[in-house]
Amino acid sequence: MPTIEEIQRPIAAEMKAFEPHFREAMRSRTALLDRVMHYIVKRKGKQMRPMFTLLSARQFGPVNESAFIAASLIELLHTATLVHDDVVDDSHLRRGFFSINALWKNKIAVLVGDYLLSRGLLLAIDKGEFELLRIVSHAVREMSEGELLQLERTRDLNFSEEVYFTIIRQKTASLIAACCASGASAAGRPADEVERMRKFGELTGLAFQIKDDLFDYGNGEGTGKPSGLDIKEKKLTLPLIHALQKVSTRDRRMMVRTVKNNSQDSRAVARVLELVSEAGGIAHAHERMLHYRDEALAVLNTFPENDPRNALAGLVQLTVERTK
Ligand code: IPE
Ligand code: IPE
Ligand code: MG
Ligand code: MG
Repeated sequence: MPTIEEIQRPIAAEMKAFEPHFREAMRSRTALLDRVMHYIVKRKGKQMRPMFTLLSARQFGPVNESAFIAASLIELLHTATLVHDDVVDDSHLRRGFFSINALWKNKIAVLVGDYLLSRGLLLAIDKGEFELLRIVSHAVREMSEGELLQLERTRDLNFSEEVYFTIIRQKTASLIAACCASGASAAGRPADEVERMRKFGELTGLAFQIKDDLFDYGNGEGTGKPSGLDIKEKKLTLPLIHALQKVSTRDRRMMVRTVKNNSQDSRAVARVLELVSEAGGIAHAHERMLHYRDEALAVLNTFPENDPRNALAGLVQLTVERTK
């Protein structure tokens, strides 16, 4: 697996410059907000989205101000959605520490998420980056739709792989697609190339979320997020969806009953996890993840080879091999 240093080499200076840029974008004169912002900045994530954005721009030439603004806006927006997502999922752990809702409660977390989103949007408006706003606003809409569709479908516990892929395309892949599209757009590339980079990001994003969902079925330690939460929250993800299609009617009834009414019973949940694995649910999700990785790399390879392009390929590989 390529190291982070190798991946960041073509944008090392840019990633360094990104830090203060991002921190500055989060500052607030309201005391409570500033305290929460400080807490968030100190526990930064992997910053894969800024890397996707900056490398996508760098692939076509030097990184300009527009690409920087895109990277900051998208990371702000991503942070906003994580703060809200932890409210929606009732999750108390993020990046190895207490989530905002765990420390300050839901009311504050909702408002902080909105604040982060507005700061991101204002950043782009102040600089007149309207094409960027168009690309990113599209992703914001999709993310909300994806999270809502997921909530709606958790009620019936009976959805197909097709619905799963619609959900993850909207809630996760749309933002990584926006990273790659806005990077190419900032570099002034023509519409067909921006679209190809969007597609590359979308395919990568599908692999990204399948990997995230696999963490929930084990090997999730070290992610800094709770493991096993998806079943507790009655969230159907690919391993379980596949297993439900493969097991006997009797086992299926038991699994549905457990997820629906008994997801606090750790013994019953353990049995469900065992059945998911035995029925090939994990292997299937893994296979699908690699399929999207390969499709993403095929799209990327339509662009001329250079160091940033190779680093993007490394970032895709990291997406499927990461341990957090
Ligand atoms: C988490 O994204 C949210 C998902 C789309 C699964 P990341 O895994 O990139 O989160 P951080 O920013 O590194 O914490
Ligand atoms: C991804 O979904 C969250 C967003 C795209 C906002 P998850 O709920 O699976 O993400 P984690 O696992 O909490 O990071
Ligand atoms: Mg979550
Ligand atoms: Mg998850």
